[in-house]
Amino acid sequence: MEWDQSFSIGCDIVDSQHKELICLVDQLESSLENRLVPQQLGAALKFIVNYTRHHFSAEEAFMETIGFDELENHKKLHNNLIKEVTDILLSLKHGENLNSEDLVKFLVDWVLKHVQEEDQKIGIFARKKKHLAEQSECKLKAVNSRRQLILTRLEKLKGLFKQKLIEIEDFKEQKVKTLANMLKELGLNQLRAGFDDLDYFLSQDVICKNERKAIVVAFLQKSDLQKGLSEIIEIEDKLLYLRSFHEFEMITDNKFDSLKAEILDTVC
Ligand SMILES: [Fe+2]
Repeated sequence: MEWDQSFSIGCDIVDSQHKELICLVDQLESSLENRLVPQQLGAALKFIVNYTRHHFSAEEAFMETIGFDELENHKKLHNNLIKEVTDILLSLKHGENLNSEDLVKFLVDWVLKHVQEEDQKIGIFARKKKHLAEQSECKLKAVNSRRQLILTRLEKLKGLFKQKLIEIEDFKEQKVKTLANMLKELGLNQLRAGFDDLDYFLSQDVICKNERKAIVVAFLQKSDLQKGLSEIIEIEDKLLYLRSFHEFEMITDNKFDSLKAEILDTVC
């Protein structure tokens, strides 16, 4: 058996140790043809056990780093092997005549099966985790650049006001318009992200509570509730959208209740 990229678990140190381990068990397997005396077999096994012990601790440290969900179970597999091989070494030391072919076969099979099957679970988990981290980093970048773009637009408006080229009312009106447009550009299926942006701007004193309300109202006024509800995919987004209309008294309680019931009916 030879190591190939599909065995990678996403950690260079552990991968190179797996290569080494596969190489070692291969050598041990071929040395069987030379009819090893128990001392030679013991020495070879001892070397592999020491190497494996060292390798297992590196692999376990990596599993901890990535928060591998089957860490405890995997550690048990490692400990079991160490115990089994340590018992074999003790038997050899006490002069027990063990079948070297069986011993080597046991060890070779264990290492290969473990690297091919069990360690692959670590690789799959690590790749999934890396993918999720990349996705959330990408999302964070998009959020930051969107917010930065709004801040730049608002700075530009502020500059016009400072130069006395527009009045304070113009500035406030354009500010509301800019942020209501941001919600529109994001679309109804990203309403939660848009509201998060507004809360962020509120926390940074870019807008005040009244302005937040004015922005949402300006956005909702240009939106068709029934049409919007049919376009929204997620039930959470549908309810948030509907609740916004109700919160700002743009629909009656009865209308709110009946539309909410319609949305909830789709859950069952
Ligand atoms: Fe392992």
